[in-house]
Order: sequence, then structure tokens, then C-alpha cells
Amino acid sequence: MSGVPVDSAISLRDVSIKLSGLQILDSVSIDVPQGAVTGLIGPNGAGKTTVFNVLSGFLSADSGTVTINGSLQRRIRPQRLTKLGVARTLQGVGLFATLSALDNVMLGGSASIRTGIIADGLAMPWADTRTARLRERALAVMAELGVADARDRFPSELPYPVQKRVALARALVSDPSIVMLDEPAGGVSVGDIAELGALIRSWTPQRTVLLVEHHMDLVMNVCDLIWVLDAGKVIASGTPTEIRNNPAVLEAYLGHEEAV
Ligand SMILES: Nc1ncnc2c1ncn2[C@@H]1O[C@H](COP(=O)(O)OP(=O)(O)O)[C@@H](O)[C@H]1O
Ligand SMILES: [Mg+2]
Repeated sequence: MSGVPVDSAISLRDVSIKLSGLQILDSVSIDVPQGAVTGLIGPNGAGKTTVFNVLSGFLSADSGTVTINGSLQRRIRPQRLTKLGVARTLQGVGLFATLSALDNVMLGGSASIRTGIIADGLAMPWADTRTARLRERALAVMAELGVADARDRFPSELPYPVQKRVALARALVSDPSIVMLDEPAGGVSVGDIAELGALIRSWTPQRTVLLVEHHMDLVMNVCDLIWVLDAGKVIASGTPTEIRNNPAVLEAYLGHEEAV
């Protein structure tokens, strides 16, 4: 099948990339439908984070195309992602250690404040208003995620699951239409994972979610569609039930001694 379905929020076509002479992604084609939760799974080293890095402009593909919200992206710039309506969380936490939780969250919306630090330094009144509005929005999102109490703490002072929530708040503060989550359940307890699943589902259909995750119960419960990568290639796609029963997927995971 060729062409990009009109209802795709993200579409990769034949994306390949070599790093240090190794073929990390090999002609990867993936469609992420609007307003749904799409999973991207596969054994360690399959290339999942690399897909995220290509989508967010940290890496440039050697060949292939990326379409986001219907427009072909010739060159994705990380600092312009918010303008495209895209936000991502990093594998791990990725918060700035020297900033408070609130400042970290506000950074996720700083593209909406053109002037940023310079205008703040000059105490421009209009910059103050925008900063105040962003602060208000950041606090509202933190409250929604149950981490408003953490506002003045540094990341290192917070329990790991709270840090992960702050990172989620940072992604949501720009009100993105597409949210890409790289292992949001990593280091999170079983009870919190169920809650996380409900939270992710609650964002749809207003937002599109692309989820990289190892916790199969979360992936199977929350995803409408799943793509499976192994050694840089798409080996399967389908509904959770289809993926669960796909022999090629089982084999890929067994080869890496991980359970599906
Ligand atoms: N900058 C890089 N240079 C060389 N190899 C890399 C680089 N980044 C990732 N890789 C390799 O690419 C493969 C895929 O990595 P990654 O996308 O992080 O996998 P996943 O997220 O699925 O675990 C791994 O073998 C990894 O070692
Ligand atoms: Mg990864």
C-alpha cells in the first residue's frame, strides 16, 4: 500500500538510518492514526527510541519521509516541535536537575513565550503576563497529574514516579495534539501503571498518543494499534489481540529472553 492515509497524525515511509555504520532503522513505515493510542514495541535495541529521535529531529533519516499532521517534514527541528503540535517525554526522566519542578514544566511551554528569559530579565510587562499565564497553565496541568505539591522541589528531591509525572506535565503543558511517550511506565509501580493507562486513554480522542513501552499489560490494555520493531525493521502491526497471537512477535521477544 502506498500513500499516507489522510487520518494519520504521523506517518513514516521507508525511513532508514545508519549510525556508526550500523543499520539502525531499515525502511521503516509506520502510521499513527489520529485520536488513538498507538504502541511501538519491540525488544531492547529494536530502534524504538531512534524512531522517536527521528520524529523529533534529534536525528535525521538517511532516506524516507516523515509526515506530521498532514505536512511532509523536510527537516524537523527539535525546538519547533511544539509548533507542530508535538510533545515527547524522554526515556528515563530527562528533567533539568537545577530547575524546580514547576520551572521544568514551564519549559515545555516556553515556545509559546517567544521572548523567554531575555524579556523576563528586562522585566517587560507583556512578557510578565505571558509568563504568568504559562505558570498558571503549568500549575493546572501539574494539579491534573497530582503533582502540584512538587512545584518548588528539585527533581532529585522527588520520588521517581513523581519525577515521571512532572515529565508528563512538561509534555502536556503546550497542549499538544500529538504526545509521544518513551517508556512512561519505566520504574513505576503496578498500581501506578494502571492509573497511567487510564490517564493516557483519557487524552484521546482529543490527542494522538504514540507509546513506546515494555510493560505489555499496559500496552495491551491501552493501545488501539500496535507496531512491532525488531532489529530496525517493522515485523508486525495490528490490534493487541493480533499482536499477542503473532508468532513472529513471540519469536522476536523469545530471542531476547523477554516475555510478551
Ligand atoms: N548514536 C548512536 N550511535 C550508534 N548506535 C546507536 C546510537 N543510538 C542508538 N544506537 C543503537 O541503535 C540500536 C537501537 O537503539 P534504540 O533506538 O535506543 O532501541 P530501543 O529504544 O528499541 O531499545 C541499538 O543497537 C543502539 O545501540
Ligand atoms: Mg529505547
